[in-house]
Amino acid sequence: MTRLFARLLAISLLCVLPLAHAEPKPLPPIIGYDSRFQPIPSREGMVVSSDIIASRVGAQILAEGGNAVDAAVATGFALAVTYPQAGNIGGGGFMLLHLAEGNRDIAIDYRETAPEAARRDMFLDASGNVIEGKSQLTHLASGVPGTVAGLLHAQKAYGRLSRAQVMAPAIALAENGFPMGFAMSELLAGPWGKRLLGNAAAKAYLFKPDGSPYAPGEVLRQKDLAWTLKQIAGHGEDGFYRGPVADRLVEEMKRGGGLITHADLRGYRAIERAPVRGRFHGFDIVSMPPPSSGGVHLVQMLNVLDGLPLAGMGHNSAAYIHTLAETMKRAYADRSKHLGDPDFFDVPVEGLTSAAYARQIRASIDPAHATPSEKIAPASEFPRESTQTTHFDVMDRDGNVVSNTYTLNYSFGNGVAVPGAGFFLNNEMDDFALKAGVPNAFGLIGDTANAVESKKRPLSSMTPTLVLKDGQPWLATGAPGGSRIITVVLQIILNSTVFGMNIADATAQPRVHHQWLPDELHLEPGISADSVRLLKEMGQHPVEGELLLGNSQSIMFRDGYMLGASDTRRPGGGVATVEELRWPKAAQSR
Ligand code: GLY
Repeated sequence: MTRLFARLLAISLLCVLPLAHAEPKPLPPIIGYDSRFQPIPSREGMVVSSDIIASRVGAQILAEGGNAVDAAVATGFALAVTYPQAGNIGGGGFMLLHLAEGNRDIAIDYRETAPEAARRDMFLDASGNVIEGKSQLTHLASGVPGTVAGLLHAQKAYGRLSRAQVMAPAIALAENGFPMGFAMSELLAGPWGKRLLGNAAAKAYLFKPDGSPYAPGEVLRQKDLAWTLKQIAGHGEDGFYRGPVADRLVEEMKRGGGLITHADLRGYRAIERAPVRGRFHGFDIVSMPPPSSGGVHLVQMLNVLDGLPLAGMGHNSAAYIHTLAETMKRAYADRSKHLGDPDFFDVPVEGLTSAAYARQIRASIDPAHATPSEKIAPASEFPRESTQTTHFDVMDRDGNVVSNTYTLNYSFGNGVAVPGAGFFLNNEMDDFALKAGVPNAFGLIGDTANAVESKKRPLSSMTPTLVLKDGQPWLATGAPGGSRIITVVLQIILNSTVFGMNIADATAQPRVHHQWLPDELHLEPGISADSVRLLKEMGQHPVEGELLLGNSQSIMFRDGYMLGASDTRRPGGGVATVEELRWPKAAQSR
């Protein structure tokens, strides 16, 4: 079949689809029929998340007249029920909004804070060495949760519906239950699940009384979580940060030797920040500022790459991967020294994202030879200047967009559930640099900028991002994966801008990752043996197939169509559209 014939066939097929508007334009050619991977289209509104039940909750809220913010908040609370390994109310994250009215971009930082009693050496022994596991699997590992404050702030300031309306689906899912999926059943049966059996509340919430996991299709009900969600729906932030939920959380902290107090909970605030901005190939990049490192290093790497002939190198050729790896190494070296909570440390955002610094980095890259990581150091100074995370995106028909990443850090955080309240606590204190130069769970190292301090927010890599074209939203994207998040988002953007891939194709391509230390170039399956050989000859140290990189969720907007792609690297995610809810069942096969 010729390409022209295939396109004509595609267009004629699409013309008979019952789209909501009277005369829908044919889908733009970018959707494919030239590609093995196809996004899901919508004109009415779309939610893409790592759990299809939660995506459908968001789409339902859009169908009920909610805007993208209402739908995002509903999805966020629903994921806390249906995807408890990362969806949460006991963790924190970052939300990026594009509001059509006033064409505004807003970053909401709802990262956890260190409890007031936290001290720099709290995870070190008497000789100054890091005590293994203390920042990960104990009550001390938890920062003060930010999710409830972040979601409710977004809803109150920018939503259209009532709090009760957007929280109702999550409450119903917790109370009435939902069928256990294959992926979660398997996760609970494996080592991550077994770890939870040591905590009586966690065991009671997610397992049968004999400690066995629910089988796929069996219904999981979470009555205590439903109670907590009702407290929040009824009393807003006070329903979580004060009153009986706070009492139960603080009681659990006392029982397990944690630090979070009533005063810590009462004092928590979500913060609106100015997003980090950049330009790449004629697109505007809008991403998350510190205390996430994501936006700064995304823009820094795109600045370096903008001056290089990437398209001519060929997608995922050895020359291309080498160029990415050398750029990534230099950005992650800077991350180790210059990034931290901007309320405690003067982060040189302007210097790191400047064109002059990008030129300097570009000049230091040898196109034929890898620079060993030990020979790369973070920039000494800039002029002073003022396993498991989850991402979702929402776009509504009015052009409002939400890109949100939030987490407990590990799957199920520190594995501690709050008795009588039904939710897990994060282990985000591990994202601090516990001691200069000692790697965290993601192998990342840090220094003073990210040292533990009372009330400080630990450095993150979460990178919810928007790409704008001519000032209008063109792409919303993000991913889980700790240190790997930033490089996954980088490659989604490169694939869709430099290489013109549709968003499903851009998502499916094999990914690579280098984070300076250790000096390893991680390659997903699908990079050719020839490229691997050439990379080794250039002095890179490829590690093949050890890590799957990210589980991205993205929406692209083109010619009046939202095009959604939920990564297939993990099962269970999905795109939900408003049309899907309206169309008769028979039409839903698309
Ligand atoms: N806990 C992973 C991150 O914030 O990057």
